Amino acid sequence: KYPDHVRIIDVGPRDGLQNEKQPVPAEIKVELVHQLQAAGLREIEVTSYVSPKWVPQMADNHDVMAGITRQPGVRYSVLTPNLKGWEAAVPDKPDEIVVFGAASEAFSQKNINCSIAESIERFAPVVEAALAAGVAVRGAMSCTVGCPYEGEVAPGRVAYLAALMKGIGVERVDVADTIGVGTPLKVQRAIEAALQHYDIDHVSGHFHDTYGQALSNTLAALELGVWNFQSSVAGLGGCPYAKGATGNVATEDLVYLLHGMGIATGIDLDALVDAGAFISGHLGRKPQSRVAVALLNK
Ligand code: HMG
Ligand code: MG
Repeated sequence: KYPDHVRIIDVGPRDGLQNEKQPVPAEIKVELVHQLQAAGLREIEVTSYVSPKWVPQMADNHDVMAGITRQPGVRYSVLTPNLKGWEAAVPDKPDEIVVFGAASEAFSQKNINCSIAESIERFAPVVEAALAAGVAVRGAMSCTVGCPYEGEVAPGRVAYLAALMKGIGVERVDVADTIGVGTPLKVQRAIEAALQHYDIDHVSGHFHDTYGQALSNTLAALELGVWNFQSSVAGLGGCPYAKGATGNVATEDLVYLLHGMGIATGIDLDALVDAGAFISGHLGRKPQSRVAVALLNK
């Protein structure tokens, strides 16, 4: 019933660190990427090419990308909301770019300063240029179950956005619960909406853990056959335009769940816990993943 392996994208260096109040030096981010790839992560979301006025934490995108010693077989992805972002990213040679839209109009306005329809117009030339350059394209879909400004989001809005993403050539999409309000059945409805336009190999789950539901939501997604997930080492993360939203589900906890179910990830949990301790130590806090806490108390 469940997939026999899962592919995890660690979004810690990007989603995890975009919301930190204290600046994190580029070399620390680079070291985090190195530790993640050494732990067996094969996809890492490294940074964003967004306005430094909006998200100052990602202003060091070039330094981070240039600092990474790339490991063969690892896919390094970056966020590019418009052509300016794409043009800035090109010299840094990402393997995949991510355009990011929302299933809610209000969140689209707050996060990227345009409507859903306008966002698709901005993404289209980015997608076209990336595909022409042989760079993979993913589409993040925010607020697929709830929006901080509009409340509950209907599955039909997710299907609408997925159709638009498909229409401009986005290869795969993330069903994101940006503010972590989802519960398993609602998340399944959102995923099914995405599945109206994408096959199961091209839909991933991106769950923030604000209400402690992210692992339950992961299990619900696994039941539908989803085998691609995004998570953040040490449970870092949050979106600056989604007030109160906490981090992504911790990669450590996700890996523990999956390995416990006999689902392979290729990730060495101990090495991953060390990576979580490294970045948490730098941020001056204890690792937030339940696994790290459990291992510390053992
Ligand atoms: P805008 O103001 O509408 O853009 O912002 P504009 O084209 O009118 O340009 C205004 C200024 O921004 C100009 O500079 C541009 O050069 C500059 P000025 O002349 O004022 O000095 N600019 C840029 N600078 C650098 N890189 C760029 C870029 N584009 C314009 N690419 C924009 C539109 C999208 C840029 C802005 O709204 C923005 O940067 N938003 C940040 C959004 C963001 O990063 N959010 C967090 C990531 S999404 C997320 O976390 C959710 C996710 O995890 C899934 C989930 O959980 O839901 C993915
Ligand atoms: Mg997110």
